[in-house]
Amino acid sequence: MIKRIFILSSIIFCFFGCGTQKPINFAEITSPDGSLVLKINNERSQLFYTLFKNGNQIIDSSKMGLISDAFAIDEGLSIIKKKERRKHHTWKQVWGEQKTLIDHHTELELLIASEFNDFQTLLRFRLFDDGLGFRYEIPELKDNSQYRIMDELTEFNLSEDSPSWWIPAYAYRRYEFLYAKSLISEISRDTYSTLVENLNPPRIGPEAVQTPFTTQRSDGIAISIHEANLTNYSSMTLKADGTKNLECDLVPWSDGTKVYVDGELKTPWRTIIVGDNPAKLVESTLTLNLNEPNALKDTDWIKPGKYIGLWWEMIGTNESSWGSGPHHGAKTDRVKKYIDFGSKYEFDGLLVEGWNTGWDENWCCTGDGETFGFYNPHPEYDSEEVHDYAKEKGIRIVGHHETGTQIANYESQLDSAFAYCQRNGIRVVKTGYVNDGSQNIKRIDENGILQREWHHGQFMVEHFRKVLETAAKYEVSLVVHEPIKDTGLRRTFPNMMSREGAKGQEFNGFMSSKDNNKPNHTTIIPFTRLLSSPMDYTPGIFNLVDYRYNSPEDRKINPNHRIPSTISKELALYVVIYAPVQMAADLPINYEGNPAFQFILDVPTDWEETKVLNGEIGEFITIARKDINSDSWYIGSITNEDGRSIEIEMNFLNDNATYKATIYKDPTNGGWINNPEQVDIINKTFTKGDTYTIDLEPGGGQAIQLVRVKS
Ligand code: NOJ
Ligand code: CA
Repeated sequence: MIKRIFILSSIIFCFFGCGTQKPINFAEITSPDGSLVLKINNERSQLFYTLFKNGNQIIDSSKMGLISDAFAIDEGLSIIKKKERRKHHTWKQVWGEQKTLIDHHTELELLIASEFNDFQTLLRFRLFDDGLGFRYEIPELKDNSQYRIMDELTEFNLSEDSPSWWIPAYAYRRYEFLYAKSLISEISRDTYSTLVENLNPPRIGPEAVQTPFTTQRSDGIAISIHEANLTNYSSMTLKADGTKNLECDLVPWSDGTKVYVDGELKTPWRTIIVGDNPAKLVESTLTLNLNEPNALKDTDWIKPGKYIGLWWEMIGTNESSWGSGPHHGAKTDRVKKYIDFGSKYEFDGLLVEGWNTGWDENWCCTGDGETFGFYNPHPEYDSEEVHDYAKEKGIRIVGHHETGTQIANYESQLDSAFAYCQRNGIRVVKTGYVNDGSQNIKRIDENGILQREWHHGQFMVEHFRKVLETAAKYEVSLVVHEPIKDTGLRRTFPNMMSREGAKGQEFNGFMSSKDNNKPNHTTIIPFTRLLSSPMDYTPGIFNLVDYRYNSPEDRKINPNHRIPSTISKELALYVVIYAPVQMAADLPINYEGNPAFQFILDVPTDWEETKVLNGEIGEFITIARKDINSDSWYIGSITNEDGRSIEIEMNFLNDNATYKATIYKDPTNGGWINNPEQVDIINKTFTKGDTYTIDLEPGGGQAIQLVRVKS
């Protein structure tokens, strides 16, 4: 049984100012290694923070505050108490990029009084070596326990107008966009439309970006703004006003309220992750450290692993359909063939989409889908036969709940749906919330009137939490597509395994080469979206050209589709993009007999250690990870459209040990345009401290397995 072990060595080393009632105008704390300094100022009765890295100001004076219909924490403020302490403790993950995490930070508590309010607010700051988190804590109000947050005033006033990587908020495809790169001051929907994709009307909501939002200064320091522990609140976007100052903009309810509060309020942590360079950003553990410990008593049933899917034949090759008809994919016999393949290669799971009822109606993407049944198998899918066969073959079905974002329909079936999973040995469910359109999620309010909500407001934050908690009750883990962004919740609920929440491989499946992901996309997401959590990117496509039919009925290859990748890069993505449940997304026929498949079979999904060896945003990244169950290391290295050579040092290997390396690489002069499906497999030996030059072809990658052979 995997147990969480908390080694707590919390040292309170400093208290000062306690008991003082005299206003304090200034506070300052330093991160444990001294590299970050936070200063708080009370200027004309308003509160501002400033952040320094290595002596340089990286966040200029930025305002803090909160406005509700019951009070305002804005003007007339005074700091009446401050308390500083340092904490150091280690804790272990159930699964993850690394087993042991160190939570080492300096905490500052400021007690804030307002001349207009009869209560005191606590501002809590935690300064780590890899960044800052802070939140507002408001006690339950005596006469008014229910109130509405109307605005949060938190600013992030970056000191430099630097290049930044961002996706628009308040847009119709949730987080499924390619990233724009522009100066902070240039952020706007027009800029996005010029640089990336035309953002069609209706352009409702403010000019804002999603988080994690990443920027890199001219001195190389990389900064990413995000949030941690988004609970009972609305998600934070960052409003852009043509300057380098971004302001928190909470996604509202349909009535304009930002957050409905009932009782005590602790906002999510507002976070600023800081690294000396982009690679350091990727190694940050700040988001997880700011979440609550594991709330699940028993986690034995939560298993990392790999899965295949009866999926690409719908979304990628276009030879099958989710719904009924001659091309319906999820027919019992066909599913059993996938089970045979999955079992032969010891995959843990098989995702089956189109197994249930509801696909025949117009479910996507205009808001229908009210007929989805989540424990009603399609008549051509013999649930009992499939699950018995899977059991016999030692593989589990990965369930699929496409909700069409019909929340009322899904919630009315939640318990029965997850009970069905538990009865049938389903331990992982992929959920989905396809519902294109901006503010398009149906909610019937207390007066029976239909309202339409945003995907990222409090209504959906609470829905996703309800699903997660119900899944845990039935010992089911989740892989959420079209999710709310992760803010580190996997620490508290380790059954929150993976999410999509970005443009994934699927866009290479159904979009033509003009509109699919570009080779640099996977070199941007490690520094943006992936800072928040694992991703179900679904790597591992081997058939990269001439793979898609016109339609299930018209089996002519459509020449306008091509995956902008190479097989070696697809392999490298298993290391670069972390997911505890990782998919081998292509059809079995494309794996069978291909020697490169061995890497997918070997690569673990649970790691003891992770080292980001190098990386520049939008250009390249190299990550090394150590298997939790053996002495083996795996390296993934990928590049954008440009070929390049990168020298790495194997100084992470054990002393006095020899490692046999199996290297999967693109052929010289190959790459995403030339010869993307050829993989050269070569062997070498390495010991600690050896150097190795990774030659990357344009749009390509390299995957390396290092198995310890001698000590
Ligand atoms: C979108 C998801 O991202 C994809 O994986 C899934 O196949 C479709 N929705 C249908 O549920
Ligand atoms: Ca999707």
